[in-house]
Amino acid sequence: MLKRLSKYPICESKQVPMKFEKRILCIGAGYVGGPTMAVIAAKCPRYGVTVVDVARGRIDAWNSGKPPIYEPGLDDVVRSALGRNLFFSTDIARGIRENDIIFVSVNTPTKTFGAGAGMAADLQYWELVARQILEHAESSKIVIEKSTLPVKTAQAMERILMSRNDGVHFDVLSNPEFLAEGTAIRDLLCPDRVLIGSRETERGLKAREELVEIYANWVPRERIVTSNIWSSELSKLASNFFLAQRISTINAISAICEKTGADVSEVARIVGMDSRIGGKFLNASVGFGGSCFKKDILNLVYLCRVEGLEEVADYLERVVRINEYQKERFVLNMLRAMFNTLAGKKICLFGFAFKADTGDTRQSPAIDVARRLLEEHAEVVVTDPQALANAREDLAGVEKGLSFVEDPYEAVRGCHAIAVMTEWTLYRGLDYRKILDLMVKPAFIFDGRNILDHKALFELGFNVYPIGKRPLSHF
Ligand code: NAD
Ligand code: UGA
Repeated sequence: MLKRLSKYPICESKQVPMKFEKRILCIGAGYVGGPTMAVIAAKCPRYGVTVVDVARGRIDAWNSGKPPIYEPGLDDVVRSALGRNLFFSTDIARGIRENDIIFVSVNTPTKTFGAGAGMAADLQYWELVARQILEHAESSKIVIEKSTLPVKTAQAMERILMSRNDGVHFDVLSNPEFLAEGTAIRDLLCPDRVLIGSRETERGLKAREELVEIYANWVPRERIVTSNIWSSELSKLASNFFLAQRISTINAISAICEKTGADVSEVARIVGMDSRIGGKFLNASVGFGGSCFKKDILNLVYLCRVEGLEEVADYLERVVRINEYQKERFVLNMLRAMFNTLAGKKICLFGFAFKADTGDTRQSPAIDVARRLLEEHAEVVVTDPQALANAREDLAGVEKGLSFVEDPYEAVRGCHAIAVMTEWTLYRGLDYRKILDLMVKPAFIFDGRNILDHKALFELGFNVYPIGKRPLSHF
């Protein structure tokens, strides 16, 4: 249970004052709902913003002023508005009754059962929310899809909400979120674009304008893009596909580099200098992780299969398959380099978060790599500055050969190898001479993020295996 700070009183029972110009609710206080609403509240002191969630622990943490997620800059933004015009509560019914604009930011994971299992979006949380809104609303509302959803979900939401015939009206908008974890506050304060999709009816356009007005408090108008509702839903999924596709492409190129002696960093820099291609999202890695890329691509794949677009589905799905291949390739490279056996060898994972500057480990490549190393009967030591609690949960049930150590110097003691899983800045600045002394020789480093100074490490005595580059080995 997170400690409550007395400076930040619990606002659970506080009524949202009527004086606010707009009364905004967000259902879902997770990685998206919490930071997004904190930024709206900070930027729009005239609006009252309430965030509700079924998870009491999360709500208590938000109310304590110490958010339940690690995100640079988030604490300050929350503290600037908490109790003034930002409120967190578990009273969902009351939140629905008292607010006019409702964002829905609940989780939409991949379905694990029944038709579409492993591919389609599991819409049970989202549908439950639609029914809660239907049950508790006493006046008309604008309902905004903030979660990432399959195309045409807005229509399903409308159908559920329109089942009331008492003059209470619901306008459904799509306003997908593009923030990336680790840079969420910067992305929210200064977004490339804010996307708002609506029906192109008189009511739909009016609701759209109401939402534009909220963002226009801090986002330049030319960055607020409006579209029809289906384009909005599809653009979110398509954007994640494009981003993930770039990573799988450069990772495929990294495999060719390893076979030919080309250097993937040089290739990425050269390719990215073409202004039509651009240099971002071309860092070869052990694979992409995060809660969304895989699920959103599979969601699109499912849509294509249902619509009979088999060729398109196969093309999209390849991006996920290359990502799986890259993780497996990483483990097999370790196995080969370490004389074809990892049994009984101690391997330290530097980082477990799916990327730097977050404690989030959902779909982190470190999970698969750890499991595969354990399958090879290696001993795995996990270290990470923010993600150890989540790592413990991800690997719960593993009884043998696994330990978690916060201090990286302690973590490497007696290890045969280090595998860099997360690009934390911390790992660039460690004293690798000291680390080498603590390790079993010959000592190996597998840099799954290409963040370390490979030549310097080699000269110290390490055998260094980057991604997509020639290994620097002493034998
Ligand atoms: P999350 O799991 O961190 O948060 C979702 C929250 O919703 C949880 O706290 C859960 O308890 C709550 N919830 C579920 N059902 C509820 C209900 N009926 N009533 C009240 N609360 C309920 O998820 P997230 O990472 O914030 O993602 C939310 C959505 O945003 C997903 O659709 C995701 O694809 C999308 N998205 C996520 C990111 C990201 O970086 N995490 C970025 C863009 C879009
Ligand atoms: C991603 C998108 O960037 C966001 O725009 C989107 O809103 C979000 O998904 C979502 O819908 O959830 P996020 O997953 O938080 O954001 O983080 P990214 O920076 O996109 O990184 C995703 C993964 O790709 C990480 O594991 C990262 O290490 C990896 N990556 C990223 C690479 O391996 N190489 C790169 O060049 C870039």
